[in-house]
Amino acid sequence: MKKIIYKATAVSPANIAFIKFWGKKDPEINIPFNDSISMNLSRCLTTTTVEFNSSYLLDRIVVGGKEVSEAKKERVVKILDQVRKRSNLKLKAKVISKNNFPEGAGIASSASAFSALALAASSTGKLSLSLKELSILSRHGSGSACRSVVDGFAQWQVGDSDTTSYAVQIAAPDFWELRDIVCVVSKEEKKVSSTEGHGLATSSPYFKTRLKILPEKISKLKEAFFRKDFRTFGQIVEEEAVDLHMMAMTSSPPIFYWNEGTMEIIQAVQTWRENGLLVYFTMDAGPNVHLICLKKNVAQVSKEIKKSKNVLFTIINKPCEGSCLSKEHLF
Ligand code: DP6
Repeated sequence: MKKIIYKATAVSPANIAFIKFWGKKDPEINIPFNDSISMNLSRCLTTTTVEFNSSYLLDRIVVGGKEVSEAKKERVVKILDQVRKRSNLKLKAKVISKNNFPEGAGIASSASAFSALALAASSTGKLSLSLKELSILSRHGSGSACRSVVDGFAQWQVGDSDTTSYAVQIAAPDFWELRDIVCVVSKEEKKVSSTEGHGLATSSPYFKTRLKILPEKISKLKEAFFRKDFRTFGQIVEEEAVDLHMMAMTSSPPIFYWNEGTMEIIQAVQTWRENGLLVYFTMDAGPNVHLICLKKNVAQVSKEIKKSKNVLFTIINKPCEGSCLSKEHLF
């Protein structure tokens, strides 16, 4: 019998949120409580090849050379199943994925992984998805993944249903020469995943207050962004990072993502700013710190980081394009 093979490869970036997604109104399909805003990260890329093949008997998922756990596999198969259903495909798939940033560095991002998976799988399945549909499919795998499909800077509009919650571009990658220097202070996998953290968000007594203040914060951040007012922008980015971690620390049970290295960098950033070096910090749900600065200050910030005790290595990112197809298959 003739073998049937459909295959595609996609490359997709992680993204750093300036306004964070924390808490899910609908955890089944990752509908958030609030809009979030992000920048794609040029040096944190996932490449994924998906092949549907009539000779496969099972779905197989290999990330960084290892078969993934059952829990992770389930999340991937959920996306494969949606593609199979929509393109009327009955075949099993092999999925091979790799990151260009060091494995197990605590920055492995579900955003780059699920946006690459969504594009590769939907392209093999002969579906032709619009950017909006691709954002929605990526969101089903991981909320923040919906922001990685658009180029440059994205806003995930909260919406009120599956078809209205997706990301749109707010600016192209070359709009502003922002840089994100990731300071890796821990390579361990975090004890509480962001998925678990989202589930605890509403237990924080500050949850309602956060939702109330967010619309004004978002409009101030966007105003500063479009004016390229780096000081105001950076201040809001920092406040937002602290708010996210305050929510985590005051949820029940509390989650403490920071470690000694996180505090060292936060305090150093304050000193650097007092000395005239303009740089601001933000974090995801983990201890590693993202330093946001302008391109012209990267060398100076990198020099200062070298003096810290706890930084294992850094990754310097600029804004970049979103998910795209590649002809270079991984197998
Ligand atoms: C703190 O998108 O990783 O980085 O949908 O459960 O996969 P899941 O969560 P995820 O959450 C990201 C949380 C965050 C903030 C953000 O990126 O907006």
